Amino acid sequence: MHGPMTRFDRFAEEALYGPKGFYTQGGNAGTELGDFITSPETSTLFGACVAVYLDRTWRDLQCPDPFVVVEAGSGRGTLCRDVFLSDPECVTALRYVMVERSQLQRDAAFAVVTSSCFAESNEVPVTALKDLPAGPLTGVIVGNELLDNLPPRVLRRTATGWSELYVKDGHEDWHPAPQEAHNMATALVPDAPQGTCLPLHLKSAVWVKRALDLLDRGRVLLFDYGLERTADIAERPMHEWLRTYRQHRRAGAPYADAGSRDITCDVAFDQLPGFPRIVLQRDWLLSQGLDGMTEWARAKWRDSARSPDSSALAARSILNEASALADPGGLGSFLVAEWQVGE
Ligand SMILES: C[S@@+](CC[C@H](N)C(=O)[O-])C[C@H]1O[C@@H](n2cnc3c(N)ncnc32)[C@H](O)[C@@H]1O
Repeated sequence: MHGPMTRFDRFAEEALYGPKGFYTQGGNAGTELGDFITSPETSTLFGACVAVYLDRTWRDLQCPDPFVVVEAGSGRGTLCRDVFLSDPECVTALRYVMVERSQLQRDAAFAVVTSSCFAESNEVPVTALKDLPAGPLTGVIVGNELLDNLPPRVLRRTATGWSELYVKDGHEDWHPAPQEAHNMATALVPDAPQGTCLPLHLKSAVWVKRALDLLDRGRVLLFDYGLERTADIAERPMHEWLRTYRQHRRAGAPYADAGSRDITCDVAFDQLPGFPRIVLQRDWLLSQGLDGMTEWARAKWRDSARSPDSSALAARSILNEASALADPGGLGSFLVAEWQVGE
């Protein structure tokens, strides 16, 4: 007996967030027990740079109180924890909202953040929600590696138009694309040769629009892997930009064993609404003072590298973390998109 055919984005949505979905069951960022590693999990320096950015933005906005920071796709709460541990100047006005679709992660993150940063407090300036809060609000909406987990539709150029990816019985299945998807793909890559595949990030575009509409004044700041132009993604084979991971390894095609692995897609930033400023993560981190934060570690290592004690080894490890965050062949090549609202 044959199963139903399901459009790829709907299949991936269920595989990631359905009752037996990868994230519903606990798919996690992290070094050892995790499935993939992200910038906040690589180093507390990432949260320290975000804290610097939040302080700058707070001052640019004339120190609003409350200053609301919404972190979307907050996972296990590491970025939130590290922002508070960095003791930002805006802390008295800061209301931090972690938004996470997976209840398991939401509950775990709230427990981690409150016990690490506010163990003695009766009231904590942190909440954890399933979806974006109601607006309007003044502040920052930030997300690390959220958009790559919002499943795209996938199109392939044929001799006469575009076909769309479906999943049937654990295999890919292509069908003629509806007119509106055909028009979008043609507009994005007009001269695509036959066989070209590309993602259509409709969910990501809608999500960014919702985030922008939430703010009366502030910024949306999103970190992710991807490229600025769909045309550049479309030049690469599909398995390079549409990937799966399980326990830090690539985990094959995404069409079978729904829920057993992460499904992620490089983001084509030209499909997002508005006109964000886009820079490389490496440059963004340096502009928030990453080098200055590790100055002490460079000096320590320089002075004790010949006979390193434990504090010199700790300094070396911080330097390694900073290099990993800014690595031009790794996390440093991620893109950072910033939208300004209300100014
Ligand atoms: C790749 S993980 C990144 C986690 C964390 N930001 C980090 O950098 O370690 C993506 C997270 O986004 C969550 N997510 C996906 N769609 C979401 C949505 N629409 N709203 C909130 N969270 C979402 C997933 O459940 C998952 O925890």
